[in-house]
Amino acid sequence: MPARLFLSSGDLIADRRFDFARDLRLKGDLAAAADLLLQAIERAPGFASAWFTLADIRQQLGERDAAISAFRKAVVADPDDRHGARLRLMLLGAEKLSDMSPAYVRALFDQYAPKFETALVDDLDYRGPALLFKAVLSARGAVHKPAFFKRAIDLGCGTGLAAGAFAKEVDEFIGIDLSPRMIERARLTGFYAELEVTEMVQGLRGRRDASADLILAADAMVYVADLAPVLVEARRVLISGGLLAFTVETHGGEGVILGEGLRYAHAAGYVRRAIEGAGLVLSRLEDLSARNEDNAPVPGLVVVAAKP
Ligand SMILES: C[S@@+](CC[C@H](N)C(=O)[O-])C[C@H]1O[C@@H](n2cnc3c(N)ncnc32)[C@H](O)[C@@H]1O
Repeated sequence: MPARLFLSSGDLIADRRFDFARDLRLKGDLAAAADLLLQAIERAPGFASAWFTLADIRQQLGERDAAISAFRKAVVADPDDRHGARLRLMLLGAEKLSDMSPAYVRALFDQYAPKFETALVDDLDYRGPALLFKAVLSARGAVHKPAFFKRAIDLGCGTGLAAGAFAKEVDEFIGIDLSPRMIERARLTGFYAELEVTEMVQGLRGRRDASADLILAADAMVYVADLAPVLVEARRVLISGGLLAFTVETHGGEGVILGEGLRYAHAAGYVRRAIEGAGLVLSRLEDLSARNEDNAPVPGLVVVAAKP
């Protein structure tokens, strides 16, 4: 994953202390790094990066309460929460599970964009688009319809890997993504008639009723806790008989959890209920993994649903 985000405090000395603290941390001197961060914070109390890093060190030292308090200060210092401090509070059980801040997702993928494809495809053996392609073909085959689509919307399109997999089967692709840098890369592929930098539910809300016959989300719903709003909008935007196909990471329990890798995992039962609740009809729900972690497949689901 990308290097940690740095937001300047606006105070040169505080920023320099932060740099020294980071060096000390890299050398393994966590206590000295925490001391320096406190000195930086003393000069610049609204220094979100210092609060976030201090919290991270506190957690590493096993100081849970101090970590929680520092993560909370990081949120106060940067209410948009570009560092993802709220996610860390959720993991620590100090905050209820909720959606990620869009600013965090944007900052994460803007940093990630230049090395995204190498990291995902080569290092993590990413296969989300190929799995979606197979699932959509077989869902279409089952209802004796050709797998050809006039207009497809690619939610969380990233650099365009999913559009690449479906390029020959789709007349016109629309890509939606929170990260301008990922969108820049998607533009270079030439696969998209239109690209929009926005949150996926907002992006769908701007689309007309029954204006797409395919909606894809490859490895993007793992950044969305509550699937209901996006599924409801997808249903509205799809034509009758149109398909929604997406991947999620999953787990053996109930509902939605946040994993250590700061990605949500949706239980199969939750996905079934969410599809039904949105008025879609489940066509495929397969236990298939879209990527590896530590050389092992991450449990996942490939889902295809149709608008009746
Ligand atoms: C792991 S990448 C996958 C990209 C692409 N679909 C693929 O298969 O390579 C996830 C993408 O989803 C985008 N994303 C995550 N949450 C989003 C949201 N709520 N709205 C729009 N885009 C989102 C991220 O910015 C990122 O580009």
